Amino acid sequence: MQTIVINSQKGGSGKTTLCAHLAVQAELLGDGPIFLIDTDPQGTLSTWHEKREAEVPQRADVPLAGLEAGLQLLRQHEAQYCIIDTAPTRTDENAALFRLADIVLMPIRPSPSDLWAAAATVALLKEANIPFLFILTQAKANASITGQAAAALSHYGPVAETFIADRISYASAMTDGRTAIELASKGPAAMETASLWKNIKACLHASMQNSAKGKRYG
Ligand SMILES: Nc1ncnc2c1ncn2[C@@H]1O[C@H](COP(=O)(O)OP(=O)(O)OP(=O)(O)O)[C@@H](O)[C@H]1O
Ligand SMILES: [Mg+2]
Repeated sequence: MQTIVINSQKGGSGKTTLCAHLAVQAELLGDGPIFLIDTDPQGTLSTWHEKREAEVPQRADVPLAGLEAGLQLLRQHEAQYCIIDTAPTRTDENAALFRLADIVLMPIRPSPSDLWAAAATVALLKEANIPFLFILTQAKANASITGQAAAALSHYGPVAETFIADRISYASAMTDGRTAIELASKGPAAMETASLWKNIKACLHASMQNSAKGKRYG
């Protein structure tokens, strides 16, 4: 099982939206079972999940303190991926959570304040040698700042090739427990989420190979 933690210090960057959409997309592509864990006291992901009629992705209610044991249990249930949503809290409060991750995804809106807020998290992840990937979210159509943000971020770490655009369907579909993918399976939101999931799997694969090499030669 691969553990994916979605975090950014900045509120409203799209963590929960990304969590829900990636989990549904991964299930649709046959990569499940996917389990979701909501560690944010706001409980947005849990509320969305409670409204949901479909059976997958499943949600595991695991308290933050019992996360390591909870992940072990999910492995025994043959989970392929566990995607963990987090609160927009200070980076140091999430340090223990990051150590359980195979990759940390950092959704970032292309704006200076979002970019600046990423610095502390990146420093901690690099120090702990935890793989991470920036994902540009809520990108406005034809805005040059998206490319500029990607270029700026690439100095600090890998940026997903696929950007998530600002689309009303991402927000509106979640009202009744669905995702934009389920509203239009061949729509632009479904296309970009599928492409992003591919980017994420490639990153996980590359970091697994690197750590295997590290073990062999280290
Ligand atoms: N790609 C998108 N296009 C349009 N709206 C979006 C997109 N992603 C998220 N939103 C909207 O932006 C708001 C914040 O998104 P979301 O709740 O996913 O962020 P978050 O990082 O989880 O927030 P918090 O830090 O409060 O947990 C929500 O209203 C959501 O519907
Ligand atoms: Mg959230």
